[in-house]
Amino acid sequence: MTYDVLAIGNPVYDIIITPYVRSRGRVLSGCSVNASLTLRRLGFKRIALVGTIGRNFLDRFKRELRRYGISNFAISVTDETGGFELIYDEEGNRELHVLGIAGKISFHDIPDEYLDVRYILLGPILDEIDYSLVEYLSSTTKAEIFLDPQGLTRIVTKGRVQRVCDRKYISEIVKLVKYVKPNEIESYVITGIRDPLEAAKTLVAWGAEVGIVTLAERGSVAYDGTSLYRIPAYRTMRAVDPTGAGDVYAGAFIAKRLEGGSIASACLFASATASIKVEHCGPEFSIKRKDVEERYKAIAHEMDILKG
Ligand SMILES: Nc1ncnc2c1ncn2[C@@H]1O[C@H](COP(=O)(O)OP(=O)(O)OP(=O)(O)O)[C@@H](O)[C@H]1O
Ligand SMILES: [Mg+2]
Repeated sequence: MTYDVLAIGNPVYDIIITPYVRSRGRVLSGCSVNASLTLRRLGFKRIALVGTIGRNFLDRFKRELRRYGISNFAISVTDETGGFELIYDEEGNRELHVLGIAGKISFHDIPDEYLDVRYILLGPILDEIDYSLVEYLSSTTKAEIFLDPQGLTRIVTKGRVQRVCDRKYISEIVKLVKYVKPNEIESYVITGIRDPLEAAKTLVAWGAEVGIVTLAERGSVAYDGTSLYRIPAYRTMRAVDPTGAGDVYAGAFIAKRLEGGSIASACLFASATASIKVEHCGPEFSIKRKDVEERYKAIAHEMDILKG
């Protein structure tokens, strides 16, 4: 079978504390998981997931993933389960404390049958994906590779996550992928450039085909080598937990591209879908096409496209 999407990155179990909600214990999250669930909820069935998890959460993870309709996964067992305690302040800034660190992912962890795939989402949480894995994927598959670089910009010191990255190293990875989507802080750490549009252009100058920078409730910007896009966020009054909004954006962007949508429409669709996520805490929510389409229509006329 040809898979639609292979999502690579460690699942995590997080504790989330925002000014509005607090998760009940540790809840399932992680870029690979949140993006996969989004694609599943948008109707895609041929999804595979690869990552590592501790034995303590293994059975729960398998149960939860199957309940959400994803049955193709290759999970290696490591000593700890990845996860953060995420604490948000009133301005939406978050601090991450480490609850556990899972293992690295190597090409041995990826079943050959998963390589017959149209899109690969790379969603590392904490340095579990390295250059050699990306190089392997880009040389052995025909898939379009989408990188959410969050986990390449984090290091842990004394249990707290700090932002750093080796610019030369990450630019070599960016060269191998088609799409790269940092959030605002990550794009600054990666490129050293504060202006998100300029940062998106830099990612393209490094070799990506499309650079996208997400700006939380201020929307996102994208550059595809010819046009610059400013994509509005949908204005929701019910933003209780932004965790995973970027991951949902990634999943929905890929969904729209799989359906043949343009970059502009994939970004709008991603923004509309991500706005549903922020209204919920944890993985337990549905995404209705009708709601996404309504939000898409509400923001589409506010989008700016400039020749870049
Ligand atoms: N409060 C909000 N209201 C509406 N849309 C939002 C809100 N927050 C985020 N979004 C949408 O989600 C997208 C991604 O958000 P953000 O920039 O916070 O990602 P992120 O920091 O990578 O999140 P995470 O790493 O937790 O998945 C934004 O570009 C926007 O379209
Ligand atoms: Mg993110």
